[in-house]
Order: sequence, then C-alpha cells, then structure tokens
Amino acid sequence: MGGADVDRGENGMDAVAARPRRSVLAVPGSNPRFIAKARDLAVDAFFLDLEDAVAPAAKDEARGLVVRALAEGGWGDRIRSVRVNDLSTAWTYRDVIEVVEGAGAHLDSLVLPKVTEAAQVRWLDTLLTQIERAVGLEVGRIGIEAQIEDARGLVAVDAIAAASPRVESLVYGPADFMASINMKTLVVGEQPPGYDVGDAYHYVLMRILMAARANGLQAIDGPYLQVRDTAAFTRSARRTAALGFDGKWVLHPAQVDAANEVYAPDQDDYDHAELILDAYAHATTVQRRGAVMLGAEMLDEASRKMALVVAAKGRAAGL
Ligand code: GLV
Ligand code: MG
Repeated sequence: MGGADVDRGENGMDAVAARPRRSVLAVPGSNPRFIAKARDLAVDAFFLDLEDAVAPAAKDEARGLVVRALAEGGWGDRIRSVRVNDLSTAWTYRDVIEVVEGAGAHLDSLVLPKVTEAAQVRWLDTLLTQIERAVGLEVGRIGIEAQIEDARGLVAVDAIAAASPRVESLVYGPADFMASINMKTLVVGEQPPGYDVGDAYHYVLMRILMAARANGLQAIDGPYLQVRDTAAFTRSARRTAALGFDGKWVLHPAQVDAANEVYAPDQDDYDHAELILDAYAHATTVQRRGAVMLGAEMLDEASRKMALVVAAKGRAAGL
C-alpha cells in the first residue's frame, strides 16, 4: 500500500480512498506478550515499536522479535507497521535494514518518528528502495508514516508531506510535541492548566491536517496516555475526528472500540450521506439540474462532495 499505489482520485478523496486507520495500536516491540495479544484486537492498523517504548538495552533484541512476529503472520487484514528509531540516534539504519530484509514482504509501512525535515523522509525512501531491490521486493510498496513531534517538524510539515510518494500519513505525536515546545503540563491530550481561552492544540492539529489533505495523505492523532479513562480518550478522539482526522493511536484494548466508532461516521449521518448522493445523482442526470431540494435542505455539487467523504468513510467502516 505504498503511496505510489494510492488512487489519486477526486480532490480530497485520496485519504478516504486509502485503507482505514481509525485505530492504530502501539505495541512495544520488546514485549512478546503484548505482541501476541495484539493479534486478538480489532484494530485497523498496528505498529511494532522499536522507538520510545523500548529501552536502549533492549533495542537489538527487539528487532529480532519484531521480524519474527511479522514473519509468523496471524495479523489478518490489519495494516502492519514498525516504528523505527528517529534519525538523531545510532539505531535507525539497522532498524530499517534488519526489519525490511527480514520481514519486508510482511510489512505495509514504517513509522518514522520525530521527522524534522523532508530530507529524512527522502533518506528513508532511498534506503527502502535499495533494500527492496537487493532482496527482490516490489519497489515502492512499503509506505512511510511521518510523525510530527516538534516545532521543526511542524514548520516543515508541507515539505515532509510531499517528500516521497511513499508517505501515506502524517501522525501527530502529542507527548513529544508538548515537551518540545515547553508546554507547562504533564497530561498528554488535555488542555494545559491556565490556558482558558480556547484549544491550545488547534493550530498544531489544523497545520498537520492541511498538509495531509493538500498531499492526499491520512492524518492520524497520537496517543492518549491515561489508558483507563476511556471517556476521556473518547472526548479527545471526538475533537480530532470532528476536524477530519482519520484515526488515532490506541495503547490499550479499552480504547479500540471507541476509536473505531469515533472515526467512522455514525449510522444516521452515513444513511443521510447515501441519500444525498442518490438524490443529487438523480437531479443531475435525470432532471439535469445542479441544485435540488432534499426535504428542507438545498443540495448542490459541494453537498455531494461532503456526502461523498462521509459515505466513503462509512463504506470503508462496513456501515
Ligand atoms: C508519540 O510518539 C508521542 O510523542 O506522543
Ligand atoms: Mg513520540
């Protein structure tokens, strides 16, 4: 599902046409028990983590575990990813080489954390192409998911999004981001205490969303760390889903159903969207009119586009 294969269809629809990523499960790559359990969870996507959930002393061993877990299979149709270490470390190149040489045929994408400039994405693209050629994998199939986690990454986000056809999503990394800008709080995803004039994350989220949509990519919200508070997770997810984000990381089984539900349209909206599409198709083809009434609502071409997004997300979610 490399970016090169994404259907560059109707404007704004590329991200919706891609495979859904409503729930993206983070799995520590050094923990065989968590890896085994992940196979039972009804997530759209998962990533085996070699970065921040793995202690430096366990990085080498984790690579082997991750390769074995991918090669063993049992992942159904979930999107299979691995998060490698960021490019300021000594680990990234070995992560990529070991994982892709060892299990590239069983891998859909790599998550590249703490991306600060487009050149980092191009580096990964080039390395992936070399490995694919060397071991006989289809060139360009493995995608890249770029995490935006600090001020430099956000300022360069348009270039990062456009850096390679392999890029499939931009992922907001709230914990690292909040640390990097010195936000005065310890609770990820909640408003910083004292900021009582609006949403402290609105600019960041919209900046990432605009770069994603301008390049036909999915936009994914990061983790909510208070894993036992499902109501708070749902509240946090609803905010980014309302803006247009496609999904959110989940860290705990209790968060999975909430994410799958929140990032799909609800049934009433989905049914209404299909009704709009039918009514508008009838109006333009049979009646040859560009504007038509559906009950008390006036529909035109823009209404069709809005309905198409909701309908496509609903169809992808199996509504
Ligand atoms: C995720 O990587 C985060 O930093 O929030
Ligand atoms: Mg992070």
